[in-house]
Amino acid sequence: PRILILGAPGAGKGTQSARMADHFDIEHVTTGDALRANKDMDISDMDTEYDTPREYMDQGELVPDAVVNAIVEEALSQAGGFVLDGYPRNLEQAEELEDMTDLDVVLQLEVGEGELVHRLTGRRMDPETGDIYHLEYNPPEDEDVEERLVQRDDDTEETVKERLRVYRESTEPVIEHYEEEGVLEVVDGEQSPGEVWADVKATIEDTV
Ligand code: AP5
Ligand code: ZN
Repeated sequence: PRILILGAPGAGKGTQSARMADHFDIEHVTTGDALRANKDMDISDMDTEYDTPREYMDQGELVPDAVVNAIVEEALSQAGGFVLDGYPRNLEQAEELEDMTDLDVVLQLEVGEGELVHRLTGRRMDPETGDIYHLEYNPPEDEDVEERLVQRDDDTEETVKERLRVYRESTEPVIEHYEEEGVLEVVDGEQSPGEVWADVKATIEDTV
């Protein structure tokens, strides 16, 4: 299937996308990970305010559309089934996406704001595997893993606030757009990861 997953920063998009990719044997296309892997690429020839994605990301701002559109177009052209995570983040990107592909399912993970901040500030990542953990909700069992965990540069309280502001301003209209089209499937993202996954899986199987 071709799945789009929407939700605020910290809603659990990455966590659930990893499960979908595994279960349905599809590609996890994530603009956040792609940009983090290319944080220092030179984008100055695209007529941008800053020369690399890093400046935008570390402040919690959106990286310019031209940069992100190119990443997604390239990734989707090589994927069969996919789960798209982190895109589209504004109405312009949503319009671009319509020209790139059809979608079978559009999911939204719904989580309240207080919980989002708690999830983001407690998140840690394993730099060797890319696996996502949470200090309280999902700590690693292996001590070696625990010792090498790192925090994402944009998970500081100040940047988290700005990311949530940008989400409300630019990305919520995208969710409203899919809602108006009558294709939005809303899942309660405040349940445990396993419960969310059960709902996500059932929703996909019912829709596709
Ligand atoms: P991106 O990487 O996409 O970040 P985001 O949207 O802010 O989302 P996160 O990755 O923070 O959260 P998530 O929903 O994946 O949650 P996760 O599963 O990790 O984007 C980063 C930046 O890149 C942007 O700010 C922007 O600068 C740039 N960018 C990216 N795409 C762009 C675009 N299209 N256009 C322009 N710029 C773009 O979970 C979070 C934590 O909660 C983890 O610790 C996890 O273990 C825990 N958790 C997950 N589920 C549960 C649960 N059910 N219960 C308890 N804890 C849970
Ligand atoms: Zn993510």
